[in-house]
Amino acid sequence: MITLPGLIDIHVHLRTPGQEEKEDFLTGTSAALAGGFATVLDMPNNKVPIITQELLQQKMELARKNTVCDIGFYFGSLGDNLEEFPKVASQVFGIKLYLNVTTGNFLIDEEKLRAIYEAWPESQPILLHCEGKTLPMALKIIKSTNKKTHICHVSSKEELSQIMTAKKEGLPLTCGVTPHHLFLTDIDGQKLGPYGRMKPFLKTQADQDFLWSNLDSIDLIESDHAPHTKAEKESENPPFGVPGLETTLPLLLTAVSEDKLTIDDIKRLLFDNPKRIFNIPTDENTYIEVDDTKPYTLNPIPFYTKCKWSPFEGKKVVGKVKTVYLRGEKVFENGQILAEKGSGRIISPVV
Ligand code: DOR
Ligand code: ZN
Repeated sequence: MITLPGLIDIHVHLRTPGQEEKEDFLTGTSAALAGGFATVLDMPNNKVPIITQELLQQKMELARKNTVCDIGFYFGSLGDNLEEFPKVASQVFGIKLYLNVTTGNFLIDEEKLRAIYEAWPESQPILLHCEGKTLPMALKIIKSTNKKTHICHVSSKEELSQIMTAKKEGLPLTCGVTPHHLFLTDIDGQKLGPYGRMKPFLKTQADQDFLWSNLDSIDLIESDHAPHTKAEKESENPPFGVPGLETTLPLLLTAVSEDKLTIDDIKRLLFDNPKRIFNIPTDENTYIEVDDTKPYTLNPIPFYTKCKWSPFEGKKVVGKVKTVYLRGEKVFENGQILAEKGSGRIISPVV
């Protein structure tokens, strides 16, 4: 049995309000506990994007009654809500901006990006979805404004190389990778069809190898848990995104058993760095116990996430979360959620 601190996933899409057919706060935070996560940070690309203080408050109210783990939120912007920034800055863990097309049509251009960079208060990071061509443009703006920035889901050799160079130059940058980019390639993507379709797309083996061999330059692992229903995935125009909360830790522990990384790396990537970068409140009596001895096959049917599928279905893994303790109280044991609905906390950054 391994004991780890309650893990932190800084990148989830729990879909509420507006798309509860995909996920809600109870199913999403239950999936978090089942996956060993005690804290999640939820993205603002809801059906109605979270770009005002009022929408943020409404979302927080919904979460308050329905979560079983701790949850914090990000703010969003399409460039026309700069006056909201000072009102929400102390309550959110950062602002998330999309420079490429993905779920939610939440796109901004260079001019808007610069205006947002100039207006966002220093305290919490700016998070970017910037893949491919939009990365150099973003790096230029980060360099001239010197605002703390987290680059989400880095997936290619080219992107990570640019980030490594920019970090050496002293830019205030951190970056994350997803489990799907660490454990799946474009070849798997062809077999998975719509179930392997996400943004950024799955990359080549060479790209994946580069991520693994430069794990030291990666600050954290983020699941980008992005559930969609099977019906949506099987439709004419399947949406981007895959669930990840319940598979991330088993995949990583399996990689530990194959000597691809260490338990200390897991702690660094899923607890220490997320906590430090995003100023996340934690408790020393919040921890998990994991059985890392018995192999089993990933089967998404008993998962708590509403979508009940996984691109990792059928994969043999070791590493099953046995128990989760939140502030000393047992909230998950052997597949069962023991926490009362609403017992998770709505958190804000530690100042
Ligand atoms: O695959 C993705 N799905 N990438 C994103 O950037 C958004 C996410 C979603 O919300 O479904
Ligand atoms: Zn995302």
